[in-house]
Amino acid sequence: MKIYNAEFILGSTKPEHFPKTTMPEIAFSGRSNVGKSSLINSIVHRKNLAKISGTPGKTKQINFFFVENMWVFADLPGFGYASVSKSERELWLKLNMDYLNNRENLKLICSLVDGRHEPMEKDLAYFEWLENNNKKFIIVMTKCDKLSKKMIETRKSEFEFFVQNCTNCVEVLPYSSITDLGRNSLFAIIDKFIKKS
Ligand code: GTP
Ligand code: MG
Repeated sequence: MKIYNAEFILGSTKPEHFPKTTMPEIAFSGRSNVGKSSLINSIVHRKNLAKISGTPGKTKQINFFFVENMWVFADLPGFGYASVSKSERELWLKLNMDYLNNRENLKLICSLVDGRHEPMEKDLAYFEWLENNNKKFIIVMTKCDKLSKKMIETRKSEFEFFVQNCTNCVEVLPYSSITDLGRNSLFAIIDKFIKKS
């Protein structure tokens, strides 16, 4: 599966500046440094479409991309970076809530977690919020190139246990932006949700 066209549209912290489009949209969210931008690049097979940050927590705005002139990908700012002040955390929360609650064409939220770490409270609270607010989501376990096959299965089961009763969680998917593990599966899931009305 190949993507021929992907381009950056704009980045914004203000809902009134979000692109006004009726195209189906997929969002990518998760803690700072978890690999959101890298995953977007790996899906579209472009090295630098979304900027990879050496400094965690650098992306403070929502970055929007057109893909194949038919879909929109939204790269949401990361949460949970320790050095961020309380006021910045509040701004982050407001921006995310404004986006998640009001984006009409949002079809699926790819919620990224770092496969190297056990499920964290903040991630679990986020899944709970998505479930309770009826948002379809998939848990994508990133950086699985750093894990053994056995560890990948163990971690996957840990996350599956937490979402066993969630009707809005599509699946838990091991992923690596380096080896493209999970890329075709994620692409197929995104494609399916984009086509859902
Ligand atoms: P923020 O925008 O700051 O929230 O970060 P982000 O979630 O967009 O993460 P980003 O894609 O910038 O990646 C953070 C770091 O993790 C970079 O050094 C990446 O090279 C690395 N990284 C991302 N994905 C993978 C992966 O699948 N495997 C490995 N080994 N490293 C990865
Ligand atoms: Mg990023």
